[in-house]
Amino acid sequence: MEELPADSCVYISGSNLNRVMFGIDIGPAELLLARELECDAVIAHHPAGGDSTLRFPEVLHKQIEFMVAHGVPEQAARDAAQPLITRATMGAHAANHDRVPSFARHIRMPFLNLHLPLDEIGRRLMIDAIDEHLVELDRAPVVQDAIDGLMTLEEFQRAPTRIMVPVGALDSPLGRIAIVHGAGTNGGARIASAYFEAGVGTVLYIHCPGPEVAALQESASGNLIVSGHIASDMIGINRYVAAVEALGVEVVRISGL
Ligand SMILES: [Fe+2]
Ligand SMILES: [Fe+2]
Repeated sequence: MEELPADSCVYISGSNLNRVMFGIDIGPAELLLARELECDAVIAHHPAGGDSTLRFPEVLHKQIEFMVAHGVPEQAARDAAQPLITRATMGAHAANHDRVPSFARHIRMPFLNLHLPLDEIGRRLMIDAIDEHLVELDRAPVVQDAIDGLMTLEEFQRAPTRIMVPVGALDSPLGRIAIVHGAGTNGGARIASAYFEAGVGTVLYIHCPGPEVAALQESASGNLIVSGHIASDMIGINRYVAAVEALGVEVVRISGL
């Protein structure tokens, strides 16, 4: 990515960073601990306030882009994404967006978050892992085959969570698969249904709220794989942390890492 996307930003800039703390969620407690551990900066994955929170709804337009790429008609894709975008817009509007950045300013701790770029890395690696497994099959793939592909990634092997199929079945035909990761958050029932209506057989989210799953269980005509939030986030994060360490920077892992 040539520039930081809307859900990622530098809250407080810094330089000469020899030791950084990296966590999926960072709040005041982690910032204070970083100071105690003599870290020179803190990096969060999830938006931690500021522009990343205020502008977060912008990245949800990726949901429309992904749907259209999988054959959902553009107007249907816009209609399916709108409730999610409205919810996120109102949430961002209501948030106390300066809470965590103000804390970092007080303790003078350089602080940033990287969300979409790392999820995009994760999405591509998940697609590759599934494709590499499916290409070896001499029969039409079922849902379990996609999971077997994902399980070649260490992050899923090590995860305390299991990959779930709360809608559909492991032995159902996989059909075309849409990996819906790296678009802000999951698309819920509305967006999954739009994929199914466009002929996609299986949708993958990394997490999905219970009520959305319940709605899909009543009406869905496809499979939903839920791969696991933190395990899936770690796919992109691990590659990024390795690249930072390759620069000679020490990384203190916390909050999910
Ligand atoms: Fe993520
Ligand atoms: Fe996440």
